[in-house]
Amino acid sequence: MTSLLILPLLLAVHVLSVILWIGGLAFVTTVVLPALARLPAARRIPAFLEIERRFGLQARVLVLVVGASGADMLARLRLARLLGTVHGLWLDGMITFWALFMLLLFVLEPAVLHRRLRERGTRDGEATRVMLLRGHAVLLILALIVVTAAVFGVQGVG
Ligand code: HEM
Repeated sequence: MTSLLILPLLLAVHVLSVILWIGGLAFVTTVVLPALARLPAARRIPAFLEIERRFGLQARVLVLVVGASGADMLARLRLARLLGTVHGLWLDGMITFWALFMLLLFVLEPAVLHRRLRERGTRDGEATRVMLLRGHAVLLILALIVVTAAVFGVQGVG
């Protein structure tokens, strides 16, 4: 009984974490960044960094949970043999997208991105806001493609 519940539970934890993480990314992209245009230019990036600091912690925890639950399912379902094959492209996509966020959230953001944003934002708040909006929009589109590919992949399409 318990072992029957483990896989659905892992999948639920995985999908719920994806919902909260990508939902947050969608909110920042479609609501927060456009709304910042109403603030004076010099306040736009400091306000963004304040909001991002709060969401950043959530995003880090969620990305770790997605990775741990995904890796556990990969092992239990013996899906690793599909990696690098045409039928496992959806898995490769999920892992690549996840690795990109690990790099962004745990390495690039604390090491360089925040400092550079602060500097650029002081010089030109509007250009920096537009650059952030474009970057977030690209990540959101990639996320939607990865989720769609995951759903098709689990149904055995591809
Ligand atoms: C290390 C990273 C990841 C690994 C190892 C991984 C692995 C897996 C595995 C093994 C499944 C279940 C397959 C099945 O039930 O047959 C799954 C489902 C899923 N994954 Fe991931 N995943 C990872 C990251 C991601 C990311 C970054 C996203 C989205 C942005 C994502 C979205 C999904 C979705 C939506 C499903 C459910 C699909 C469905 O049941 O229809 N995963 N993942």
